[in-house]
Amino acid sequence: MAFPTDRPRRMRQSATMRRLVQETTISTSDLVQPLFIVEGLKIKQPIPSLHNQFHLSPDMAAEESRRLQDIGVPAIILFGIPDSKDDIGSSAWDENGVVQKAIGKIKKAAPEIIVITDLCLCEYTDHGHCGKIIDNRVDNDSTLKLLVRTAISQAAAGADIIAPSDMMDGRVAAIREGLDSNDFSDTLILSYAIKYASSFYGPFREAVGSAPSFGDRRGYQMDPPNRREAIREAALDIDEGADMIMVKPALPYLDVLHEIKDVFQCITAAYQVSGEYAMIETVAQKGLIDRERTMAESLISIKRAGADFIVTYYAGEVAQQINSGSFPW
Ligand code: PBG
Repeated sequence: MAFPTDRPRRMRQSATMRRLVQETTISTSDLVQPLFIVEGLKIKQPIPSLHNQFHLSPDMAAEESRRLQDIGVPAIILFGIPDSKDDIGSSAWDENGVVQKAIGKIKKAAPEIIVITDLCLCEYTDHGHCGKIIDNRVDNDSTLKLLVRTAISQAAAGADIIAPSDMMDGRVAAIREGLDSNDFSDTLILSYAIKYASSFYGPFREAVGSAPSFGDRRGYQMDPPNRREAIREAALDIDEGADMIMVKPALPYLDVLHEIKDVFQCITAAYQVSGEYAMIETVAQKGLIDRERTMAESLISIKRAGADFIVTYYAGEVAQQINSGSFPW
């Protein structure tokens, strides 16, 4: 028998052959688009730190949601940028808050799209931390009460899924209990169970003005070298009643994503965060990589590692590519 006997290249010889043996696919239904909501009317303002992303007033967010629904994107995740911030983030649970107002308009314009709300106080506090400060430290248990209040107001406004990203201990149980006792037992919880204290959030913090005014988030977000701790965090949140969990960031933590999916077999999302997006955009602008192929490769990697769906700033664009047949896989 002629050497080599095994020739994996046989299966790569044409585009159709490669398509036949392709193991992982991405469809529009795997994509969640983040939207940044500001106060006002008819505002669609480019975000300097996030190329092709916009600050949208509630009416424009509704219009954008309609467009996303029409191209097959099943869900959006909302981040609010309020006009006024204070030390406890009280605009987060204001029934006329910017996110609450947007949800009403989105639900009218795009009744089928799933509305996920990011639940955190950092966009609403004047110090930029994710909770209430007591003695120069984010206090866990008093922050829980504020998060529960915010979750209930988001559910009351019509949110389908509440996504806590604060990393306080016990928040999933507290939010579940708060939702259930206010008649929102059908509202889901997507927990950012595994959220690392990452430098990859830089462009996002720039976009929402949430960089902490003192210290950093390492006292509550996870330490990047830890993997076993991720399993513990996921186990706790599932136990407390999370319907789905999320790993964030995505690309630098694909090992963690893969293991979480393997161990728990639950619906596991991944967040391709602002820094991952900005790296691709910036290097592509320099002409050093092929933007479309790199974008596609990053997303297929996240899917291959085990993500059931991906929160990505590319959602709208990739959905269009998939629909027109120009997505490479
Ligand atoms: C917290 C939150 C952050 C992101 C999502 N939710 C920022 C942080 O923890 O500092 C980051 C998302 C991104 O970088 O794209 N509200």
